[in-house]
Amino acid sequence: MRQAGRYLPEYRETRASTSGFLDLCYSPDKATEVTLQPLRRYGFDAAILFSDILVVPHALGQNVSFREGEGPVLQPVRTSEAFEALTLDGFQDRLAPVLETVHRLSSAIPKTTALIGFAGSPWTVATYMVEGSGSKDFIATKQMAYGQPDLFQRLIDLLVQATGDYLIAQIEKGAEAIQLFDSWAGVLPEDQFKRWVIDPTRLLVQRLKGAYPNIPVIGFPRGAGALYLPYVEQTGVDAVSLDTGIPLAWAVKTLQPKVALQGNLDPVMLLAGNFTALDAAIDRILALCSNGRFIFNLGHGILPSTPPDAVGRLVERVRNWAR
Ligand code: CP3
Repeated sequence: MRQAGRYLPEYRETRASTSGFLDLCYSPDKATEVTLQPLRRYGFDAAILFSDILVVPHALGQNVSFREGEGPVLQPVRTSEAFEALTLDGFQDRLAPVLETVHRLSSAIPKTTALIGFAGSPWTVATYMVEGSGSKDFIATKQMAYGQPDLFQRLIDLLVQATGDYLIAQIEKGAEAIQLFDSWAGVLPEDQFKRWVIDPTRLLVQRLKGAYPNIPVIGFPRGAGALYLPYVEQTGVDAVSLDTGIPLAWAVKTLQPKVALQGNLDPVMLLAGNFTALDAAIDRILALCSNGRFIFNLGHGILPSTPPDAVGRLVERVRNWAR
């Protein structure tokens, strides 16, 4: 989940020194610095590369910008003409600054801290590419997936190829584990979930494992509910991030024998101002999950209004936790 970001004053300061969010992603000096900031404060066991899932469409030639208070804005891809305008020519070159950040981080972080590379999963990246922004209902994307499945398949295939190239390059530059963010996996019915979430993810995992069998892959099919099980069984991921809504006893019984679990504290717990409830929520997760392979984490990205001290309290509690 996000570690850097607007909840940290040092992030806001670095961010203010750039002309825009993408500029920050493409400045190796600054992106390295903001990746290291949360490590300095909290000493996490792992660092996640500072970048964004939307650098992939940007590197494919789509117009992408981040507007203050509005989130991402893209020139929507809804026709075969718009799809044809995307290109893998120059794709790796445009991502070179991000790969340079990975390279610098691999020597800048402590040896005992894992460096996590990441990308968005094809489905979730496609939703931004087709909608042209965030969405609540994903009607345009679903219309394309259900109404013009051949065209949508070409978009997904392009993303599988591009994302695979990009993740392999991250591993070559020093990423030690990969997380695939599928933030909008939970909006599809079962058969469509299989086609647009499971199948492309399996192809990506196969490609990564073919090149680097020992690099762990963490999947995050947020909102997938009971479909977490076929996702785990069919994609080949080594670990899953659980969203906040997943019942833990079910996940421990059903998923943990097959993969490592990661999750799933509600990020809002960190800003509700009730430390008794925060401590209880942390303890409950640890008590249920830590008899098997488990990484303590949030159930989604940290929110900008999180007090940094609440994160410090969480880290201390997890570290001191004894069965
Ligand atoms: O440590 C880290 O923060 C890792 C880097 C990282 C970011 N985004 C930085 C970021 C990662 C792993 C992501 C993933 C990401 N980006 C996802 C998947 C995870 C999730 O949250 O569901 C998604 C869907 C995106 C797309 C995206 N990027 C959106 C929708 C937004 C706007 C959010 C908003 O509230 O305005 C972003 C911007 C973004 N990406 C920020 C950060 C720190 C905030 C940027 C800022 O204004 O400084």
